[in-house]
Amino acid sequence: MTTIRRRLTFWYTVALGVTVLGFGTLLYLERKQSALRELDRRIALEADLATRWLTESYNVLGRIVTSEGTRPALDPGISAYLASVRDYLVVADTGSRVLGLSDLTRELSADALQRLTFPLDTLRLPKQAGTLNLGSPIGQVRFLAVRVETAGSEIGSLLVATPLSGAAFGPSELLRSMLLMAPVILIGAVLVGYWLAGTSLRPVQGIMDEVEAISDGRSLHRRLAVPISGDEMARLALTVNGMLARLEQSFGSLHRFTADASHELKTPLMVLRAGVERALVHPGTPGEILQSLDETLAQINQMSEMVESLLTLARADEGRAPLAVEEGDLRELLGDVAETAGMLGESAGVGVTSEMPSAPVRLAVDPHRISEMLLNLVTNAIKYTPQGGAVGITLTEDDDAVTFTVRDTGIGIAPGDLPHIFDRFWRADPARSRTGERPGTGLGLAITKWIAEAHGGSITVQSRPGRGTLFTVRLPKVAAV
Ligand SMILES: Nc1ncnc2c1ncn2[C@@H]1O[C@H](COP(=O)(O)OP(=O)(O)OP(=O)(O)O)[C@@H](O)[C@H]1O
Ligand SMILES: [Mg+2]
Repeated sequence: MTTIRRRLTFWYTVALGVTVLGFGTLLYLERKQSALRELDRRIALEADLATRWLTESYNVLGRIVTSEGTRPALDPGISAYLASVRDYLVVADTGSRVLGLSDLTRELSADALQRLTFPLDTLRLPKQAGTLNLGSPIGQVRFLAVRVETAGSEIGSLLVATPLSGAAFGPSELLRSMLLMAPVILIGAVLVGYWLAGTSLRPVQGIMDEVEAISDGRSLHRRLAVPISGDEMARLALTVNGMLARLEQSFGSLHRFTADASHELKTPLMVLRAGVERALVHPGTPGEILQSLDETLAQINQMSEMVESLLTLARADEGRAPLAVEEGDLRELLGDVAETAGMLGESAGVGVTSEMPSAPVRLAVDPHRISEMLLNLVTNAIKYTPQGGAVGITLTEDDDAVTFTVRDTGIGIAPGDLPHIFDRFWRADPARSRTGERPGTGLGLAITKWIAEAHGGSITVQSRPGRGTLFTVRLPKVAAV
């Protein structure tokens, strides 16, 4: 969620940054262009005015060029007006020799002046505009050179120019303020983007939390709250609800089928067992038939156990396996289990010891289920411990919980198998047959785990192959039964 939020914020900021940058660049270029146009207009106006002044003076005076000095020059009266022009102005004769200059032009160095008059030397068209470099300190100038044909044969052309630096001033100011403002705009965009992304993703967060709470198989009856907004979130909630309904239905039929099938199998199995038992005690049964009847009975017993376990699990899944909770001393319960375990261990050649506090350990539990749980663990411990090994059962109590442990010195469980041992029908080493030296169905630990969790507790396992295994069941005192 955080990543989507960050990603959205990032892209929002990038999008806004690019937009602002693009807009700024366009604005800057446009401002620069219009400043140039403004300059061009100004020098065109000045060129026009100068042309007119020369034409009018020629029309009135007849001759406006004097050759009194060493070189021909404009009549002083006329050049006085032109000298006052605030830009660079050059008037030349038809041979491109300079006849008059504005005051500003007179301040130019000889080199700069030469560069400035260059367009006049090459002027072929009636008009020519462009940019010239006069070298430092003036830099680039915008110029307009025009032919003057209406002021007598001695006047050839004139040129007006003005520095670009004056025009660039406006846009560069704009650029500076844009650069100053960009970080502020971007920080604002990050904040607004983060807030926007958070607000629009909040409903998704809610739906995710709810779905997470439903993810275990027993909460499938729950449904998401559908927002009244009728937007995409409402549709998502409706879709998830529809999916939950279908899941609940198929889970339900699966559980019902397992429960019904196990239930239906119980009676025929009982009848079978009674029949075999009767045949076993019948005096006329021959010896070899007795042996196969014995094996049949063992199979029937194992099958009855499996059917019973399946029924328990199916009912637990359906939520129809209520606990008959009553408060009692857990030490008595453990004592009974230890006694049974002692007998089982004796026939298997495994020593069983038990340890418990001297004071009563009172807790409200379903005693039958807890006994079943402990017996499952203890029979496993004995079953998976070779002759001569040891099994220890302990009961301890602390402020918040009661803890049972079942420890053995048996074959242990491979680390790769540990995550699976609580799965239904899972048994380590598939080659091990259900009827061999260690018979079983692989349902014992699944039931054990369900019993621990139904009491609000938990079960954990530690094991080292070849060294032994330790199962720990922790039942909280304030159990959420
Ligand atoms: N104390 C143990 N030591 C070694 N392996 C164990 C121990 N307890 C359980 N296991 C492994 O976990 C598997 C699952 O145990 P679980 O009790 O569920 O089934 P099971 O004992 O094979 O059959 P049953 O359903 O009759 O109990 C076992 O097959 C065994 O491989
Ligand atoms: Mg078992």
